[in-house]
Amino acid sequence: MIKNVVEVFDVVKTYKMGEAVQVHALRGISFKIKSGEVVSIMGPSGSGKSTLMNIIGCLDRSTSGKYILDGEDVSQLRDDGLATIRNKKIGFVFQNYNLLPRTSALGNVMLPLRYNFTDQLTPHKQKEMAVSVLEQVGLKDRIDHKPYELSGGQQQRVAIARALINDPAIVLADEPTGNLDSVSGKEIMELLLKLNREKKVTLILVTHDPKIAKLTQRVVHIIDGKVKK
Ligand SMILES: Nc1ncnc2c1ncn2[C@@H]1O[C@H](COP(=O)(O)OP(=O)(O)OP(=O)(O)O)[C@@H](O)[C@H]1O
Ligand SMILES: [Mg+2]
Repeated sequence: MIKNVVEVFDVVKTYKMGEAVQVHALRGISFKIKSGEVVSIMGPSGSGKSTLMNIIGCLDRSTSGKYILDGEDVSQLRDDGLATIRNKKIGFVFQNYNLLPRTSALGNVMLPLRYNFTDQLTPHKQKEMAVSVLEQVGLKDRIDHKPYELSGGQQQRVAIARALINDPAIVLADEPTGNLDSVSGKEIMELLLKLNREKKVTLILVTHDPKIAKLTQRVVHIIDGKVKK
């Protein structure tokens, strides 16, 4: 039986803006995602997609409701507990790549190892791991390039390699093709789908593009902080 890697039950997120004003970003969201699934999240601007991704990615906590990540209830964890789980289980890919600008592709990809296994891994081993994931994303001949020496599509490949280096259960991608032309965007999607097939990583991505959503196995539509039935 394939297990669920994400289970959210009635998740609510309310942002408090001072004493009087509240923003109801998520109004009771429930769904499950199976291990190895490829799911896209769609919905209008402001509907709560990034808020939901932040909660699934353990960057933020819900105001109420329950979140079970890979069998573990993480709803009540404090910041340090969330950070530990996040480093172990989640890889992030962002629309604007979020790479360190003055650091090489190799350095960017090695960065997450600092927060994880540095005690156990020699610098040589860390470098070997980073080169290996850069190879998997087709950038073996660009490892010493800085972000400004790479195309947008190549920068996103570096970000994907960085997301993969800790061998995460889930890769979360918020508009991963949003800054790319349609050809590079399609290549990035093909790469993400290949990694899903080969490494069995669960892929959850936010997109506004129906053509991108069509490439995924299932679409969850979010409207005004709720899942559209
Ligand atoms: N840190 C925050 N503090 C207060 N309100 C916030 C915060 N982050 C998001 N919001 C509000 O929560 C709602 C949902 O925002 P969210 O960023 O999740 O939307 P989105 O679906 O990702 O939109 P987009 O497609 O434009 O990226 C919006 O009304 C937004 O203004
Ligand atoms: Mg967003």
